[in-house]
Amino acid sequence: MTILVSGGAGFIGGNFVLDWLAGSDEAVINVDKLTYAGNLDTLKLLEGDVRHIFVRADIGDREAICRLLMEHEPRAVINFAAESHVDRSIHGPGDFIQTNVVGTFNLLETVRAYWNELPADEKGAFRFLHVSTDEVYGTLEANDPPFSETNTFEPNSPYSASKAASDHLVRAWHHTYGLPVLTTNCSNNYGPYHFPEKLIPLVILNALNGKPLPIYGDGQQIRDWLYVKDHCSAIRRVLEAGKVGETYNVGGWNEKANLDVVKTICSLLDELQPRADGQGYAAQITYVTDRPGHDRRYAIDARKLERELGWKPAETFESGIRKTVEWYLANQAWVSNVTSGAYREWVSTQYGA
Ligand SMILES: NC(=O)c1ccc[n+]([C@@H]2O[C@H](COP(=O)([O-])OP(=O)(O)OC[C@H]3O[C@@H](n4cnc5c(N)ncnc54)[C@H](O)[C@@H]3O)[C@@H](O)[C@H]2O)c1
Repeated sequence: MTILVSGGAGFIGGNFVLDWLAGSDEAVINVDKLTYAGNLDTLKLLEGDVRHIFVRADIGDREAICRLLMEHEPRAVINFAAESHVDRSIHGPGDFIQTNVVGTFNLLETVRAYWNELPADEKGAFRFLHVSTDEVYGTLEANDPPFSETNTFEPNSPYSASKAASDHLVRAWHHTYGLPVLTTNCSNNYGPYHFPEKLIPLVILNALNGKPLPIYGDGQQIRDWLYVKDHCSAIRRVLEAGKVGETYNVGGWNEKANLDVVKTICSLLDELQPRADGQGYAAQITYVTDRPGHDRRYAIDARKLERELGWKPAETFESGIRKTVEWYLANQAWVSNVTSGAYREWVSTQYGA
């Protein structure tokens, strides 16, 4: 048996592939376009492992994806591939529409054609799992209840609007064509192999490099943090037992203000790798102009996933953030490789422009 994962060289997809193959011998076809966010270094542990087949391709390339589906006959497709950074979506929304909306549409159409031709028993067992975000629900006021699966979609950024559009397409492909889909809407992830443009890895690396730790606005934007390996276990559980056509919210019950997250990282670094001058890392905190349309609060009600599928996160924020800081301290080579031009050069030599 085989599964096909798209976006498996990115942060969550990469962690998922590593986790999957640590616990199962079922092969993974890993399809990734290798944008700036995709890093094969994340998958180094799998070099020479016949259970992992990496293919550089765009989810929107129907011919390439069709070939892979026919050749490997996966029993499931898990779609992680996306443009995922809100700031980038503000400066250049086009790529977000192209990959998240048009790319998902093309992937759905390619998968539907493959699924239609499967023998009846395989057709019934097949799953298309779409990985999405809590940002599709918009923003919460301080006293609002957390987002449940029945909240309306009110996306506020080009990123969340493009993800909301893709969620709607996935839903429609089930209701119209019967494609056996599952959707997960997860809160903010953190953990190993996170590209250092996002808050947590950026703060760790800037702190260690003596750079300012930028805080948007007043730093009181609240996010509900989930350790990435808990997201991976939730996806595995939904794939295994989720009810076709349903969506499942995934979250860690860890609402934290951005400023508190940054201060926690500073304290951990003070303990694990103190500054040479004896000052605390918090001295590097700098306030910068807020992001336009910045959502104030996200929080996930993950009770459906717990009640129906028995999933719970294994990490608290305190245990997960300590593991994350320790991982970045122990893996500086990964960081310098993904942030250096050398990696991009290697990708274009290896795969062409
Ligand atoms: N990071 C989070 O906190 C978070 C939270 C909830 C949901 N999500 C969702 O999870 C998924 C993965 O997020 P992430 O943080 O790992 O993102 P990421 O940006 O780290 O990785 C995305 C991966 O997709 C690949 N990719 C981009 N466009 C592609 C295309 N057209 N075809 C094939 N591959 C392409 C990139 O090369 C990269 O490897 C996304 O769909 C995102 O919306 C992320």
